[in-house]
Amino acid sequence: MSKPHCRTAVLISGSGSNLQSFIDKTAQGEIDLDLSVVFSNKPDAYGLARAETAGIATECLDHRNYADREAFDRAVAGVLDAYQPDLIVLAGFMRILSPWFVQHYEGKILNIHPALLPAYPGLDTHQRVLDAGEEWHGSTVHFVTEELDGGPRILQGRLAVNSAETADELCARVQTVEHQIYPEAAHWFARGRLEFRDGVARFDGGLLDEPVVSNYF
Ligand code: GRF
Repeated sequence: MSKPHCRTAVLISGSGSNLQSFIDKTAQGEIDLDLSVVFSNKPDAYGLARAETAGIATECLDHRNYADREAFDRAVAGVLDAYQPDLIVLAGFMRILSPWFVQHYEGKILNIHPALLPAYPGLDTHQRVLDAGEEWHGSTVHFVTEELDGGPRILQGRLAVNSAETADELCARVQTVEHQIYPEAAHWFARGRLEFRDGVARFDGGLLDEPVVSNYF
């Protein structure tokens, strides 16, 4: 079923280059999302300025002002729910989500992780990939479950590693890929092609056992 006005909340903690790709592709009519609000847990996140420039509502709560993870997450949801989001896009949101938050938005949360999951969950992926001498690297859009970096994988952008490049150079190439695949996967969700219900992810009506893979080389 199509959701013509998929109300989307984008959660960030930093630069927001992925957010920018959503802003640009929405403005160009390439993706069909209503970017309703950008939320940050960091008041100085540059992504907030990007949102303001684009005329998108911004919200910020500093997690350090809350007693524990769930108290913060409940406050975040209180803010977000005023925008009635259909979709939550985690775009460099550097917070582990509480089970309460994941259940509250069950089936509606997307994340992007800079590695070809299930390989290299966690932090510092680019350096770890180089250190291991991997031939392939990339990024993965996935649904969020209570397992960190563990929900059903939707779309992967894959590129060939150049063993002479630095982690920063590899990161920059991966981000270029992210700016293509993340808006695309969110667009699939908005158009009703993608869903995650009762623990089962589906794409175009079929089980999404393996992610769609796009090669960028
Ligand atoms: C991205 O590389 C993403 O994979 C990771 O955090 C980074 C966010 O970058 N989850 P930006 O803030 O969108 O520039």
